[in-house]
This record gives sequence, structure tokens and C-alpha cells, in this order.
Amino acid sequence: MSVKKILLIISFFYLPLIILAADGHELWLKKVKAVPVNIVAAKKNAVINLAIQELQQGWTGKAGATVTLSIKTDIAVKDDGYKLTPNSIQANNEMGVLYGVYEMLRRQQTGQPLQNVEIVNPSYQQRILNHWDNLDGSIERGYAGLSIFWKGDKNITVTGNDKKLWAEYARANASIGINGSVLNNVNASPQILSAENLQRLKAIADVLRIYGIKSYLSINFSSPVKLGGLKTSDPLDADVIAWWTSKVKEIYQLVPDFGGFLVKANSEGQPGPQDFGRTHAEGANMLADIMKPYKGIIMWRAFVYNPNEKDRAKQAYLEFLPLDGKFRDNVIVQVKNGPVDFQPREPFSPLFGATKNTAVMPELQVTQEYLGHSYQLVFLSTLWEEFLNSDTYQEGKGSTVARCTDGSIFKQPISAIAGVANIGLDANWCGHPFAQANWYAFGRLAWNNTLTSEKIAKEWIQLSFSDKNNLPEVNDWEHNFLLPVKQMMLQSREAAVNYSMPLGLHHIFAGDHHYGPGPWYAPNIRIDWTPPYYHQAAENGIGFNRTKTGTDAIDQYHEPLASAFNDIKTCPEIYLLWFHHVTWNYQMKSGRTLWNELCYRYNEGLMQVRQFQKTWDALEAYVDKDIFTDVQSRLRRQEKDAQAWKDGCLLYFQQFSKMPIPYELERPVYNLIFLKTSDMLQINSEEIIKKQK
Ligand code: GCU
Repeated sequence: MSVKKILLIISFFYLPLIILAADGHELWLKKVKAVPVNIVAAKKNAVINLAIQELQQGWTGKAGATVTLSIKTDIAVKDDGYKLTPNSIQANNEMGVLYGVYEMLRRQQTGQPLQNVEIVNPSYQQRILNHWDNLDGSIERGYAGLSIFWKGDKNITVTGNDKKLWAEYARANASIGINGSVLNNVNASPQILSAENLQRLKAIADVLRIYGIKSYLSINFSSPVKLGGLKTSDPLDADVIAWWTSKVKEIYQLVPDFGGFLVKANSEGQPGPQDFGRTHAEGANMLADIMKPYKGIIMWRAFVYNPNEKDRAKQAYLEFLPLDGKFRDNVIVQVKNGPVDFQPREPFSPLFGATKNTAVMPELQVTQEYLGHSYQLVFLSTLWEEFLNSDTYQEGKGSTVARCTDGSIFKQPISAIAGVANIGLDANWCGHPFAQANWYAFGRLAWNNTLTSEKIAKEWIQLSFSDKNNLPEVNDWEHNFLLPVKQMMLQSREAAVNYSMPLGLHHIFAGDHHYGPGPWYAPNIRIDWTPPYYHQAAENGIGFNRTKTGTDAIDQYHEPLASAFNDIKTCPEIYLLWFHHVTWNYQMKSGRTLWNELCYRYNEGLMQVRQFQKTWDALEAYVDKDIFTDVQSRLRRQEKDAQAWKDGCLLYFQQFSKMPIPYELERPVYNLIFLKTSDMLQINSEEIIKKQK
């Protein structure tokens, strides 16, 4: 055989590996050079077989070691938790064993020594991704390609490729403990419940089940009318109840372990029980009663607000607190982390720590709707950590959001957490290579809500980049690569807050796509969809007065928080303009005026991004070439975006403050008129950046 032929054969075999290595499709589950391991498992079934296979493929511990897998009840082990020793995994059920295997392998790969015996329990029973995927394949707020689940009416047939992708998706989720997926958008089409779509649901559920993932659907509350042809969707109407009963039966015949429904009702134009004079509880309970015999749950969203109210931030609490105790025990109220809408920073929603007889679950946004889509590097774990650790004072000090939602404070029939997924058909699933870290972090925090972002970032970098198989050996990897990348990730959310909305500013985005600055955006639409409603900039100052002299939103928090937020002197400066309308020359803790502080924060955000560029550029030798250039070009765009944010916001607010930008800071480079009339998604678009390469 000629050398050329041999080379051709070699390249044929190695090509897929090289491509895989470069496109990020393997996520944090990179192939490793495994050594032999003996596995003893008394009981074998599909999940245990998977556990064995994962151990064999991923064992990098002592060669020839023996590991025992067993299913045995232990009262210290809860739900699908597990008990680990260096050579055994014991759990109450098979999923616990599989999760234990992933943990054991993760520890080997990240060099985290295993203590003699460790019991690891999940913080939440249900750890769920919410996919805002539409039936036509598009994804609301999706920045990584089309849906992995739906492809439009003409493409309803399930292919081998679909199943392969779903299995990869399910494996990735299982490896971090996610055990549920809501497969379609909360703005749900009634058609999701059509016979054809339920067949596709069955096909998806059959694949996800292998990895312990339950399937859920978002439903449209007027499905009885829109799909069933009934005259009403009133939840107390007998025909409506009969329609849902038969639909639920149809679903469970296809998917016996179907998880339940997620409902967005009477929110942003979606139908709901209030259309018929019924309450959220009446609507949710009707569905809950039908689901009960099947052990299904209803996740009822509290994302409600209407333009007639004075303060959007107060509304979910006002509507839902009076319903505390009125929901069935298989209903859980799903509440976004902040009272407005997934902003780069918000105080926690006061609904956390408010109810005592109704379980609430946090909804986090993994997809970066307000954090730079998939163009910007923002590690969201620090945002979620800050939220989960916020003290609600519900039962005195230490009543963190985490403890108010995981059942530690009140016994609750269900505990759950949801993350709006950032996953699409892009080869690397998430668009930005670093956006994978947000998927990873959501799963890890859903499993253990006390983990630090530092630990999560470190693990993710180790699992995703220390690819000893495919990259040349590079010395001092930890010091030269791991540490700077980790530092960049840990600073990235604060940088985004700084360059977009520091000091408690919020919702000052460009309209619709929410990418880039738009503090001036005020077309003739609902006032609570326009930034001036939120920033209230005027000659006398800036910020939303939610104190006792304003909308009194602070009153929805427990003491001593309410008083701390109410007083400008004790309100944390990170929330200052969220709770207070502050004069431009107010003296901040730094000694600067509010105006100057604002200028410094915007500037700081831009400088941080420039530093990220430098950090990344120094790491070329450590990263696969394609991923390196991909991240590099996205950081270039992020720098331009940060500049536009800084210039746009400062030049706009300067019209009210009438104060100069401190001379020691850089001058703006964009004109306000240009920014006001341009679309930042366009001006810094990839096409233009590619031309500059
Ligand atoms: C935001 C987002 C919408 C989404 C809504 C929700 O308003 O912009 O796209 O539908 O949240 O969470 O329901």
C-alpha cells in the first residue's frame, strides 16, 4: 500500500475525531484515555448498563480497580442521591447509581479526592430545562440555531439523527443531574397537543427516559377551544374538564411517565383562567386534579404583569400571595429569579420567602436574552449563586432563597428548579463556546444549590479544555490557562452589569431583541415595555422610587431587608437605582457623585472586556484553533458592544444630568444619534467583523 493511501486511510479514521474536537459538540464529556476497571453489579437493567458503560469509557482511576454498584435503601440517601466510596456507589434507585457514576468520573477528571464515604443528595427533586422551542423549529430567545426537538409540520417524522441527538442531549443532562425537559415554548401553540405532535413527544420521551429525564409540555390554556373546538376554555366548565381529562389520558397512554404541564396564563397576552373570571388557583387546580392519578405535576408561572399597575415589580406578589395555600399539592408556582425579567442584576423576587403553604420554584434563564445573546461571554453562575444565597429572612436570618425553595424551611410536596435552555442545533449546542458553561452551571446548581461558582467554573474548564488526548502537552496548564480563564468567567457577569446597567438600573435594552442599549426606546407601546418607565431619568435624578414614598415595593420584603432597601444610606449600591430615585450629585460610598460613579461603572465594564480579550489572546497555545478564534472574534464584538452600551447610556443620561464625563475617562467614540438610529445586532454583526479579520 502506498504511503499516500495509508495517509488517506488514517485521515479518514481521524477526521471525525478532529472535527469533533474542534466543534465543541462533546461538551464537558470529552473522550478520555480510560484504563480497565472491574465492575460488580448485582442487578442489571438499561440504566445500570449505561452506568457500567460510562465507567468503562471514562475510568481514569487505578487500573484494574473494582467498583461495586448497588441499589439498596439508606435513609440518609434521598430521592436520586447516592452514597460514594472510592470503589462503590450505592443508591435507592438506578438513577442514583448513574448520577454517582458521573460524579465519580468527574472527580477523577478534575482531581477532587473522594473522602471515604460521602452521601450526595440533590437539592431539588425536579431539575428541569425549559425549552422555548416553537413547533416550526424556531426558538424564542434562542441564539444557537433551530430546535433540536421540532421542525415544523412537514418534518414530523422522527429520524435516526433526531434520536442520536436527543440521546446525546439526554446524556449531557444526566451527567449534571438534570432530570426533566419541558419540550416547547411557554408561549405554547395549542397544536402541541395534536395527535401528530403527541407522537413526536412519545418518540422524544422514549429517548430521554433512558437517561432518567422526564418529558413535560407547555400548554395553551385555550386549547379546548382552539384545538378541541369547544365553545369555552373556562376551567370550571364540565365539557372543558372532560376535554382535558381525555387529552391527559391520551398523553399518558403514549408516555406513561409524562412529567406534567408548564403553564403561562394571563401573562403577556396568553389566555388563562382570568379570562373567565377564575383565579390562577382555579385554573391550575383543574389541571392538577386531572394529572393527580398519573402523578403528573403542574408548574404554574407567576410571570404576570399588566400595564395598568403602577409598578410591574410588585405584581406577581400581589396576585399570587393571596392564593397561598389554595393550590393542590401537585401544583408548584414557577417564579423568575427577579421581580421584573431576567435582568443582568435584580434583587430576588419577593415571592421567594413569602408563601408558606404553596411551593414555589425558581426559574432561571440560561439563554442570554438580556446578557448579550450568544455573542458575549457571560458566566451566569455568579448571578444564580447571588440569587440562591439571597436572604429572604422568611424565618429569620439564613432563610436564603435556596432554603425557601428546596424544602429546608417548609416541608413541601414538590421541590423543583427550572432553567430556560440555551440549546439549539448549532454543532456546539449553545452558540458561544462559553455558553456551554451556563448549561453546565445550571445543572450543577440544580443538583446542589450550595455550590460556588468558583468550583463550577473550575470543573467546567477542566472537563472542557484539559484535553490531554488531542492537544500537545503544555506545561503549567493550571497556572497559565485554568486560573486566568476562571478569573475571566467569574468576573464576566459583573462586567456585563457594569457596561449595561450598573447600580440597579434595569430594563434599558433596545426593544424586541433586547440586545444593546435602548434607554431612549419609547415607541407608542405599553409603557411598561419602554425603558424610560424603568430608569425614570430626569433633571432631578435617575432611578425607580420603590420606597415608601414611591410604589412601596420594598414592603413586599421581610424585615430587616425592607428597611434596609427603603433607606438610601443602607440600600446596597448594586440595587440603588432599582429602589431609589437619586439626584445626580448624590454622594456615593466611593465619594463620587452618582453621575461620576455611573460613568466609572460603565467605563469599568468596557475595561473589563478589554482585559478579557488580552487574557484570551495569551491562551492560543492551550486551545483548539477553531475554538480559540471563535471566542476571540466574539470577544472583539463584545468589546464593541460594551463601548456602544457605555457611550449610548452615558450620552443619553447626560442630557438629564448635564454633567461632564470625568476627564480622566475615555471619550465616547459613538454618536448618540447614530446609536439611537442603529440596531446593535447589525452594527457589530459577525459579517462586518469577519471582513475585518
Ligand atoms: C420575556 C421574554 C419573552 C418570554 C417571556 C416569558 O418577556 O422576552 O420572550 O416569552 O419573558 O418568560 O414568558
